[in-house]
Amino acid sequence: MLTLGIETSCDETSASVVKDGVEILSNKIASSLQLHKQYGGVVPEIACRHHLECIDYVIKDALEAASADLSKIELIAVTYGPGLAGALLIGISSAKALGLALKIPLIGVNHLYAHIYSCMLKGNIKFPCIGLVVSGGHTTLALIKNYNDLTLLGQTRDDAAGEAFDKAAKILGLGYPGGPIVEEKAKSGNPDAVDFPMAFLEKGSFDFSFSGVKTALLYYIRKQSQGKKQVNINDICASFQKAIFYVIVDKAVNAAKGTNAAQLLVGGGVSVNRTLQQMFIDRAKGDCIQVLFPETGLGTDNAAMVAAAGYRLYKEGLRSDYSLEAEPNLNIGDGSHPSVRNVP
Ligand code: KG4
Ligand code: ZN
Repeated sequence: MLTLGIETSCDETSASVVKDGVEILSNKIASSLQLHKQYGGVVPEIACRHHLECIDYVIKDALEAASADLSKIELIAVTYGPGLAGALLIGISSAKALGLALKIPLIGVNHLYAHIYSCMLKGNIKFPCIGLVVSGGHTTLALIKNYNDLTLLGQTRDDAAGEAFDKAAKILGLGYPGGPIVEEKAKSGNPDAVDFPMAFLEKGSFDFSFSGVKTALLYYIRKQSQGKKQVNINDICASFQKAIFYVIVDKAVNAAKGTNAAQLLVGGGVSVNRTLQQMFIDRAKGDCIQVLFPETGLGTDNAAMVAAAGYRLYKEGLRSDYSLEAEPNLNIGDGSHPSVRNVP
């Protein structure tokens, strides 16, 4: 069974054809990243215009690359939140138009769920497990009891992990997006050079806060430049990265231990960071927790994860009706997928 996935929640216009929920036949992405660079972050209007201009071509491209014409598609999966309202609407409208014309079922997919699901593609998932999304918009921990039973454990109270990287890179004058640049610089830096604060919050809390470490970086740079001291940018990047990752790894592993979860699924743009991956593996080893990451190309926003997650939910008996709407503030809920209805 072929699923067409559509993703337009932020600055990537993406379409993908996935066979039987696991075999990715195509995964096309047209990013507006270059257009946002000069502003140091995503400008919603620019992202929306780009989605509008590209969406039809990206879908056509994905179908061609999969050697599938529309008549072979049996399910349409589309991200309906969280994300930019206008951007989500463009994906949803395309999905509805195609689905109605083809008379096939439609399923709205939570973008956070899709990021977590990108780690499930290789199979062998043991429930309960812990899902963690570390992206530009989210730092979210969830307990997963089953494919369609997710409970929110904690989330960021201010900046998301990727957002903190993007802001740090801006402070350091390194460009956008910050994550990959900071990772590159950090490779030849000393992570113990600067003692940036780590916010663990209240005992037992699974929430995160990264605005403090970002402000500490800003003050550190100001102080150094006032004292006319030479700063080693690589050391700063390595220390900043460590302060963020140490907290993420600690909380996620504690969540797994506290819920008897044997697996930790880490998805989202920041999950591609090699230092984070190594820290997770090193820390979880002692507790016999297996850490799973997305395959190459599936960490950042893409439609293959949406198609695969949508297919899974469809097989679980869920689907959306054609009144599906964009939900910009959608979160990991108490197991329910708003707008997705059980098949009678
Ligand atoms: O998942 P994603 O593509 O979009 C959202 O859903 O937000 O994540 C984008 C974020 C950006 O903030 C970017 O700086 C960060 O992921 N990122 C990284 C790396 N690659 C991308 N952060 C740290 N290390 C990386 N290698
Ligand atoms: Zn994302």
